[in-house]
Amino acid sequence: MSNQPMIAPSILSADFARLADEVAAVTGEPGRGADWLHVDVMDAHFVPNLTLGLPVVRSLLATTGLPLDCHLMIENPDRWAIGYAEAGSHNVTVHVEAANDPVMLAKDLRAAGAKAGLAIKPNTPLQPYVDVLKHYDTLLVMSVEPGFGGQKFIAAVLDKVRQARRMVDSGHLNLIVEIDGGINTDTIEQAAEAGVDCFVAGSAVYAADDPAKAVEGLRGQVEALPSRGRC
Ligand code: DX5
Ligand code: ZN
Repeated sequence: MSNQPMIAPSILSADFARLADEVAAVTGEPGRGADWLHVDVMDAHFVPNLTLGLPVVRSLLATTGLPLDCHLMIENPDRWAIGYAEAGSHNVTVHVEAANDPVMLAKDLRAAGAKAGLAIKPNTPLQPYVDVLKHYDTLLVMSVEPGFGGQKFIAAVLDKVRQARRMVDSGHLNLIVEIDGGINTDTIEQAAEAGVDCFVAGSAVYAADDPAKAVEGLRGQVEALPSRGRC
């Protein structure tokens, strides 16, 4: 069985000129708004898009008490990820496709006081990385090709979510299962039933008239499911 559902709005779909207001818009009442704030860092090399980097993350940390969930879609995370941990991010996620030494990287991130996250793209299998994942606190299963918000959910990745859920429930792994891409009111329930703990949602939250209500609505859909996380 998965833990209490967590919702992590992605500011990729927010208005970057009004970031502090956009963060406040998902903060909500204590215990009801966003659990984490998902921050997509893109370098125009690992993915064909460019977003923001450490200076903006530092400013976000100064403006919000929400835990930052930094998703680094960058080349050479072995060199760059540590800065995001040292700055005070709660969770720093690197892509396994980009990391040279993901075990060492996880140790460094944890030593700097952050949780360590490992992301896998939709076509990357889970099985080869099970031993590596023993060093990680979160697994981010990408349910779209990384790079852009507003894409269509790829349901085939739910097999990997089920595999991960089974390994967590059996005690083989100890991590939060997170999903990212195309999560909205139509897709969140199938992801929850497969065993996701933490749901990233960008356009589904920021396209809503009331982003905080959208967060509550998504969480409520998961909480209402009788069969959540049983596989
Ligand atoms: C895509 C990013 C996602 C993105 C999700 O590469 O990693 O976090 O913001 O956006 P939606 O929820 O709109 O698919
Ligand atoms: Zn992301």
